[in-house]
Amino acid sequence: AYADAAADADYAAADADAAAYAARKAFWLAIRDRLLAELAAAASITKPRSRPMTTDTQEPAAVPRDVFSRISVVVGDITAQPYVDVIVNAANESLLGGGGVDGAIHRAAGPKLLEACRVLGGCPTGSSRMTPAFCLNANLVAHAVGPMWQGGDKGEPALLAHAYRSAMRMAGLHAAGIVALPAISTGVYGYPVDLATKIAVREVIAALLEWTSMSVRLVCFDEKTAIVYQHELFSFFHEWGLAGGHVLDLPDCSAGGSK
Ligand code: APR
Repeated sequence: AYADAAADADYAAADADAAAYAARKAFWLAIRDRLLAELAAAASITKPRSRPMTTDTQEPAAVPRDVFSRISVVVGDITAQPYVDVIVNAANESLLGGGGVDGAIHRAAGPKLLEACRVLGGCPTGSSRMTPAFCLNANLVAHAVGPMWQGGDKGEPALLAHAYRSAMRMAGLHAAGIVALPAISTGVYGYPVDLATKIAVREVIAALLEWTSMSVRLVCFDEKTAIVYQHELFSFFHEWGLAGGHVLDLPDCSAGGSK
C-alpha cells in the first residue's frame, strides 16, 4: 500500500510538471502567433529602410535566411547550456569575477579561470579577452566588458556594440560553432534591456554574416528578457523584408532559469 501511495504521488507530480510545461509552451506559442500576425499585417515594407548593421562589411543585398536559422533564444543559466564552444561572459574591467553571469561562470569553471584571468591583467570596456573554459561545459570563455549605463550619452551604445563585436570576433577567430551569449550590461550595469537588445541583435547578425559556420544562442535569465529578444529579432525581420521568412526557435522554457 505504501509503495502504491508513493507511486501515485510520483505520477501526480509528473502530471503536474507536464501540465506546467504545456502551459508555458502554450504561452510562448501564443506570443509567437501574435508576433507573426503583427508581422504579416505590417509586411508592407519591401526593402530595408536603413542598413542596421554596425560593421564595416560591404552592405549585404539582404540578410540570408540561413542567418536567422543560426540564432536561437533560450531561457536558462548560461553555465548549464549543452554543446557550446564559446561562452561569452559579462565581465568587468578587472576580469577578477563578480556577481551575475560573471559569478556563475567563475563558480562553474573553477579557480583556474581566475588564475588565467589574473594573467591577462584586465580588459577595457568595449573589448573582450579569451580564456579556456576549464570545468565549464564549453571550450572557451570570451570575457566581454560592457559599459555601465549612465543615461545613454556617455558613449554606452558604441561601447556595448564593440563589446559584442569583439567577443564575436574572438569566437569567430577561434572557429567557434555555437556561441552562448548573455544580455551583456543589462543586469548590474543597468543598461535598459530594450536598448541593449537592439544593439545585441544587430551585432550578432553582422557577426553571423561574417562567420558562416557560427550559431548563436541568446541565453536569457528570465522570460521578460527573452520576449524582448524575440520581439527585436522579429522587428529586424520586418526591417529586412523577411517577414514570415523564418520562424525562430521557441525558447526552451523547460530549462527553467527565471531570476
Ligand atoms: N545565466 C544567464 N544569464 C544570467 C545569469 C546566468 N547564470 N546570471 C545573470 N544573468 C543575466 C542577468 O539577468 C542580465 O540579464 O545576464 C545579464 C547581465 O547581467 P550581469 O551578469 O549583472 O552583467 P552586467 O549587467 O553586464 O554587469 C557586469 O556585474 O557580475 C558583475 O563582475 C560583473 O562587474 C560586472 C558586472
